[in-house]
Amino acid sequence: STGKFTYDPGFTSTASCSSKITYIDGDEGVLLYRGYPIDQLAEKSHFLEVCYLLLYGELPTPAQCEDFEKTITYHTMVHEQIQFLFRGFRRDAHPMAVMVGVVGALSAFYHDSTDINDPEQRKIATHRLVAKVPTIAAMAFKYSIGQPFVYPRNDLGYTENFMRMCFAVPCEEYTPNPVLAKALDTIFILHADHEQNASTSTVRLAGSSGANPFACIAAGIACLWGPAHGGANEAALQMLEEIGSVDRIPEYIKRAKDKNDPFRLMGFGHRVYKNYDPRAKVMQKQCHAVLNELGIKNDPLLEVAVELERIALSDEYFVEKKLYPNIDFYSGITLRALGFPVTMFTALFALARTVGWIAQWKEMIEDPEQRIGRPRQLYTGPGERDYVPLGKR
Ligand code: SDX
Repeated sequence: STGKFTYDPGFTSTASCSSKITYIDGDEGVLLYRGYPIDQLAEKSHFLEVCYLLLYGELPTPAQCEDFEKTITYHTMVHEQIQFLFRGFRRDAHPMAVMVGVVGALSAFYHDSTDINDPEQRKIATHRLVAKVPTIAAMAFKYSIGQPFVYPRNDLGYTENFMRMCFAVPCEEYTPNPVLAKALDTIFILHADHEQNASTSTVRLAGSSGANPFACIAAGIACLWGPAHGGANEAALQMLEEIGSVDRIPEYIKRAKDKNDPFRLMGFGHRVYKNYDPRAKVMQKQCHAVLNELGIKNDPLLEVAVELERIALSDEYFVEKKLYPNIDFYSGITLRALGFPVTMFTALFALARTVGWIAQWKEMIEDPEQRIGRPRQLYTGPGERDYVPLGKR
């Protein structure tokens, strides 16, 4: 029991692992990072402070916060050789394909100096990943639009640095809009961790074999890419664009309910939340804040999204199956307004989730009871039988 919350022993007996990092109550729509409610952190904290909280379990003191932010800032640059890896990709390669490849390649640069049994080397590896994944994501974006890479700067905050690496061009100075940077920083907080989701479980399983953390995070990026998982933010925006106007919503609601139609409302439903995803509420607020700051009065896709949510949540199919908007439903509209192409949406999710993945990896590696993961199966194949030579088949 943790005071307010107690755990059903039956549930823990089927749990894949125990963890102190993130708590979700899917029925109540509760999400806590180390006990702190997501809406409080989104409103009062900032992403790097949340990174410290997820990694070390407590909110940092002012001195710890300053030291952590300086450490991360000084790790944001990547080895100069990394830029040549990009040349192996087509310019139109999906940024997630690039992220899987380049983050995995960090193993080649740091494998020999990452003894995961050495706490100090483990700590440096976690800081390198939190610091360098944004730089790699920005390089993937620049490469996809044929613009030169922009180096990180040490005089900018984490999210401002990322925005500058994405949007600055050599021919003119770029100063991040503080309101938009705050919105993106909040979006990173919302995506930072989420208990044992598919990609986090992938990272834990890969890490349980003793694989280096850079390769494990690359495995997590690969898993996140799926449209049923992190790829849903890209798919949700494409769905809203395909619907196009509120008068076409009933046609898509009908399709989503048709068992013979593979179409699902992207950004709706969740494996755990059977109530409103608490992150979706904060995301919708960020969406309005970004559109207001940009002076966008009536975003047609937001209009479709709000009406789609209203109709779905009054339809018995969605109510009965407890299908609510999840974090991916409003994120695409917001990220597009911030200037990111739809192909970058899941890369931004991966950027933010890296700290959650590596915090969960760290927790697992530091568990003295830790053993290699080895899921078993229910065998449904043929019973034992003898080999039949080719001529007798
Ligand atoms: C993320 O796990 C995490 O924590 C993930 C994540 C994180 O932060 O890491 O929260 C991030 O991945 C969010 C989810 C993003 N995915 C999408 O938005 C894709 C659209 N959603 C669906 O594909 C679906 O809801 C899933 C994949 C999210 C969950 O699928 P399940 O496990 O099949 O959902 P379920 O068991 O609750 O479904 C109950 C019923 C099923 O019908 P029946 O078999 O009971 O007849 O509802 C149906 C489903 O077919 N259903 C939907 C639906 N989602 C579920 N029907 C229409 N549209 C949908 N979106």
